[in-house]
Amino acid sequence: MELSDLDTAALVQRRERLAARLGSTPALLFAGAPRVRHYAANPFPFRAASHFFYLVGASIEGAALLVEGGRSVLFLPEKPADDELWHGPTPGAEAIARAVGCEVRGISALDAAISAKPVATLPCPDAEGREQQALALGRSVRAGELKGDDLHLAGAMIDIRIAHDALAVREMTSAAEAADAAHRAGMRATRPGRFERDVRAAMESTFIARGMSTSYEPIITTHGEVLHNHGHANLLSEGDLVLADVGAESLGGFASDVTRCWPVSGRFSATQRAIYEIVLEAQRRAIARVAPGVRYRDVHLESSRAIAEGLVAVGVLRGDPSEIVEVGAHALFFPHGVGHLIGMDVHDMEDLGDLAGYAAGRSRSAQFGLSYLRLDRDLAPGMAVTIEPGIYVVPAILNDPRFSALVARFVDREALARFSDVRGIRIEDDVLVTSSGQEVLTASIPKTLDEVEAAMRG
Ligand code: GLY
Ligand code: MN
Ligand code: MN
Repeated sequence: MELSDLDTAALVQRRERLAARLGSTPALLFAGAPRVRHYAANPFPFRAASHFFYLVGASIEGAALLVEGGRSVLFLPEKPADDELWHGPTPGAEAIARAVGCEVRGISALDAAISAKPVATLPCPDAEGREQQALALGRSVRAGELKGDDLHLAGAMIDIRIAHDALAVREMTSAAEAADAAHRAGMRATRPGRFERDVRAAMESTFIARGMSTSYEPIITTHGEVLHNHGHANLLSEGDLVLADVGAESLGGFASDVTRCWPVSGRFSATQRAIYEIVLEAQRRAIARVAPGVRYRDVHLESSRAIAEGLVAVGVLRGDPSEIVEVGAHALFFPHGVGHLIGMDVHDMEDLGDLAGYAAGRSRSAQFGLSYLRLDRDLAPGMAVTIEPGIYVVPAILNDPRFSALVARFVDREALARFSDVRGIRIEDDVLVTSSGQEVLTASIPKTLDEVEAAMRG
């Protein structure tokens, strides 16, 4: 993101909203440090911690933002004398101050600015960043141990980040547009005899051409039943389905998170069509439920019911769909939650554990499946969530002794064997809660059976 592209007024407003919630507690948010790959001069690409990035609008390594009583100061690391030799001219403090809309100082002034007062912070996701925080604050800073002022700051950040402002929606729309291009490119690049990595190259090149990157490690696999499958080495064979879970990070740091499935041959088989339609219906019903005031767990349960009904209709599950959902037997095939918050992080603010995802007084269920639900809040305008039901045939679940009673009672293994060309199907979109219902930010990406087959030809 160029400094000239920053929406200064929106950034000022974000910091003002934070300050209003913080009251007299000063807060210091760190960008974090670049992670070394092999040696210091060869780091991984740097991306600032999201809380900092959200308030500053730019990913500035080693920087820290102090928000105190309605006044913000951005502390920048001093550059080595030969920096310009290696990296060329970079914007000076004045240009940064104008673009970000706050005072800027060198980081050596930080100590004096925060000395002798308690300052709240949130742990950087990276160990190097947390070390810098601990040093600056003179106390240990660890993820998962928020208390006191830090917990207060976490609550304030969640408050402002959870309802997306116009700038965030613009960024997410741009990430969605990039995901659209990627998924179409992936569909077109798929042929028997190519490899998963060929599809990956086609998809990610659309991000690179936009100056963007992926918002998480992409999943592009013929083994969609392995939920976090990050290998890309499999050969694409006639009869396989590709599951592609690929999202972009916009130039301003916001994510899209999209999953589509398509047949290597360009034509879904009858059995693939049948299961795909069940997942699509589960997604359609879940999206239709998204509206202000609706409890997200009920959205999950709506998609679970649709999956149970669909699998009963094709004979894979037997019994009463309501009972199936109540005892959690649908989770044998749909083991994860229907989605999560999305924003600057693909699972937005999961660095704060379940603080953002679960409303006060709510906690995770102990039931298999429901226990993986990452969000259980009442939806409100401005929130963005994913809706991503799926059906997976996972040997590690179906052969697990913990579930043998459920499998014996509800699963018709003979019927399941007829769907042997389906291993995993997920359909995922990003959905913004509006004042009257919802808007699917990723709606332009081919999704129905006909749309997907047409996009593969096109
Ligand atoms: N791509 C990560 C997820 O769908 O949650
Ligand atoms: Mn997701
Ligand atoms: Mn995803």
